[in-house]
Amino acid sequence: MTLPATDCDGLELRRAERADLLAVFRIESASFPQPWPYDAFERFLGTPGFLVAELDRQVVGYVIADVVRNHGSPVGHVKDLAVHPDRRGLGVGSSLLSAALSAIVTSGARSVRLEVRESNAPARRLYRRFGFDPLRRVSDYYDDGEDALVMVRELPADAGDR
Ligand SMILES: CC(C)(COP(=O)(O)OP(=O)(O)OC[C@H]1O[C@@H](n2cnc3c(N)ncnc32)[C@H](O)[C@@H]1OP(=O)(O)O)[C@@H](O)C(=O)NCCC(=O)NCCS
Repeated sequence: MTLPATDCDGLELRRAERADLLAVFRIESASFPQPWPYDAFERFLGTPGFLVAELDRQVVGYVIADVVRNHGSPVGHVKDLAVHPDRRGLGVGSSLLSAALSAIVTSGARSVRLEVRESNAPARRLYRRFGFDPLRRVSDYYDDGEDALVMVRELPADAGDR
């Protein structure tokens, strides 16, 4: 799978653990007007698509992706992605997204989708760089009335499938 280069010195990615949840929740709260509640993150502990990024042993970002069945076919979904406001623009978000897409491919999904606020230019740019195309707009998707843009990307078959 061809993805944009992701280089961020000293960055470590790993599965999220319970001890990470407070840092994750703090980043979430600093990043979104309607943050997920703390216990929403607990549900994804131990899943292959819940990853954190560490710099200097501090959690600086995370991603949550999963795979659901749509008419019998597995489809990836990037559900949440955020980087600490002080650590943006270093490649952390790109690295997390890249790792999440790899996990989704490994799960056998052949496409991945996500929702993004229409006004969220940095996130939309990131997703465009990763080959996501806008699919449709969902009116009034967010609690404050903003529309969401659904973006989608086709994925190559996992090499392990062949
Ligand atoms: C969207 C978000 C996750 C991106 O994270 P990030 O770590 O800043 O992403 P990156 O650093 O990988 O990429 C951001 C920019 O930095 C640039 N960049 C990446 N690595 C770089 C480096 N080493 N040197 C200089 N610039 C770099 C990228 O090219 C990119 O440029 P662009 O804005 O023109 O696309 C982050 O802005 C965020 O947390 N936003 C709030 C939450 C949010 O909106 N989440 C998405 C919900 S759908």
